[in-house]
Amino acid sequence: MERIVLAYSGGLDTSVAIPWLAERYGAEVIAVTLDLGQGENLDSARDRALATGAVNAYVLDVQQEFAHDYILPALQAGAIYEDRYPLATALGRPLIARKLVEIAHVEKASGIAHGCTGKGNDQVRIDVSARALDPTIKVFAPAREWGMTRADEIEYARVRGISVPVTKDSPYSTDENLWGRSIECGILEDPWEEPPEDAYSLTRSGAGCPDLPAYLELTFDAGVPTEVNLVSMPLTELIHSVATIAGVHGVGRIDMIENRLVGIKSREIYEAPAAVVLHTAHRELEALVTPRDLIRLKRELSVKYADLVYNGLWFTPTRQAIDAFVSTMQPQVTGQVRLRLFKGECRVVGRRSPYALYDHSLATYDAGDTFDHTAAVGFIKLWGLPVETVARQSALLQTRPGSQATIGASLADATASPTAAIHTRSAIVADWVGL
Ligand code: ARG
Repeated sequence: MERIVLAYSGGLDTSVAIPWLAERYGAEVIAVTLDLGQGENLDSARDRALATGAVNAYVLDVQQEFAHDYILPALQAGAIYEDRYPLATALGRPLIARKLVEIAHVEKASGIAHGCTGKGNDQVRIDVSARALDPTIKVFAPAREWGMTRADEIEYARVRGISVPVTKDSPYSTDENLWGRSIECGILEDPWEEPPEDAYSLTRSGAGCPDLPAYLELTFDAGVPTEVNLVSMPLTELIHSVATIAGVHGVGRIDMIENRLVGIKSREIYEAPAAVVLHTAHRELEALVTPRDLIRLKRELSVKYADLVYNGLWFTPTRQAIDAFVSTMQPQVTGQVRLRLFKGECRVVGRRSPYALYDHSLATYDAGDTFDHTAAVGFIKLWGLPVETVARQSALLQTRPGSQATIGASLADATASPTAAIHTRSAIVADWVGL
């Protein structure tokens, strides 16, 4: 007999999946419900799974692990997909896969199952992550196979005398965890339509925000956010607190067209108040303490890292290698960032660090300036040297017969003398750029 460990959210799809897997594969189903900070009460999940036919059921709070082992590396790596999406849903999937595989080993199960459909990225992330952890594991996706509508599913359960959640059919498909919330479907599929207010639940609209800004001072210790307004708190609590404050001030709404791994463009709405604030702050502090060439190299790796997370490649040596790179930069990311939150805007207004590379005596235009102005003369002379060399050569080139045809009569007139050509060229260039 097959034993299958199912990621059970308690919703309609995964409730119906329990009897469906049992019938279709003659399987014993073990239900696993994970608390990733989705803000739902999961107390009854175990009883409901067992009542629906699961032979065993687990409910695990994995918020700590999610925050420390998934969110934090992604924050430090600056992982934001296509410049906008902080990857809340995408980061949760490898953790879900890990827990399913761990419990499969404990329960001597040969397979895992999830409720993803065939159109999204999540099926890829869970499947690929599970196989990275156990290449022998089988992965089942009932909702991808059964071809039932919502009404069919309700009927399927009714016929079998199984009670399923009878929640009102939401106009949206949503996924939420500690790092943010994804909202899709319904009216949102028209990219021209403004999202209705009822799509949002973590953030207030601009009109509903307080009329006074909030100032948030975030302390980082070696790249880890540790304090909010000088009150130290554990990471999960800190993320929840920042989300609450930022949400009240309308920060963290994202509306974008996104490229899915499965080849389609989709319109996505996200709410990620904590992620937006913490990424903004971390990036700012890192900029203060990191040399120019290193920060630029890191920005390239951030794009790569976000793609890896998005594309289900969390458990790969590539991701681990970037983590190792990023971790060498974090000890200096220590200090404070001050942010102003106001009607949807999150603006950095101050930053400081004992490791700042900002040197006031070098930067100032006031008294106390230690910058060597005389050194600028030689620096500029050499900096501009290759530019000047090219300009001289191209002037010489102008003297070749027939080389002026496309440039214009005035330049052609001046070809007799290279110096005159330089002057004429300058005039033409100045004219082009509107000087
Ligand atoms: N497009 C986002 C992503 O691929 C959000 C997915 C939302 N998932 C869901 N089951 N509603 O990460």
